[in-house]
Amino acid sequence: MKFLELLSHVGLIAAHRGARSIAPENTLAALKKSVGRCDFIEIDVQLSRDGEAIVMHDDTLQRTTDVAQIASFASRKPYYVSDFTLSELKKLDYGSWFYKDKKHSEPLLTLKDALLFIKENSILLNIEIKDMNKKFNNADVVGVVVDAIRKSGVMDSVLISSFRHEYLKIIKAELSDVPTAALVEGKHPPRLLEYLRELKVEGYSLNNELVDRESVETLREAGFFVGVYTVNNSKRVKELFDMGVNCVFSDSLEKKEAGIL
Ligand code: G3P
Ligand code: MG
Repeated sequence: MKFLELLSHVGLIAAHRGARSIAPENTLAALKKSVGRCDFIEIDVQLSRDGEAIVMHDDTLQRTTDVAQIASFASRKPYYVSDFTLSELKKLDYGSWFYKDKKHSEPLLTLKDALLFIKENSILLNIEIKDMNKKFNNADVVGVVVDAIRKSGVMDSVLISSFRHEYLKIIKAELSDVPTAALVEGKHPPRLLEYLRELKVEGYSLNNELVDRESVETLREAGFFVGVYTVNNSKRVKELFDMGVNCVFSDSLEKKEAGIL
């Protein structure tokens, strides 16, 4: 199925940063664990210092890698991702912080490898582009992502989202058939429907606390796909689906597997 077709569906579960309750977030292991446990996978993408697209949520490497244990990187605090080159990022371990036995490691996941994975496994992927405005210009960031999507030939299988809505406008100009979604947190932009139409997005994803029934109905009637993040409580998931929300982003895919979510 194409991602665009999925946007008309309701009751969808997205694997937030991969199956992050059972594997280290945003790693290939998390993507593998997501297969068969969700309707699509969501990952976060940002650029290394030398402009390579890598899969990582935080601005810094501290929480999800072993960077603090590597003596040669000690002077690089607070370890901003955008201060490290691809070859430096490849030296880190992205798994041991998560695994209780501390014996397992996971390599860096690049966007290129994530796209190869979804192609080989016929699974749909939401690529969230992190806001890198402080470090790179908009066109450069989007250019890297667009190039990776074109080269891997997965145009039909991806949805691109971002809190930085300028990126979405450029995506539409470059890849008009790839669906996009605006992310917001805390408050809606003024004149919401007009705003989303101007952005030419198909979707709108908001945080759980911001959702109300009236906004969901208005958005759905206007033809927008509505996503809500991050929801791990099965009662709340049901409430949101009853309101007409298309999709929830969840960390707890084991609940979906057990039929609880
Ligand atoms: O795309 C929904 C969600 O991933 C946005 O929040 O901070 O987890 O990337 P965050
Ligand atoms: Mg995200």
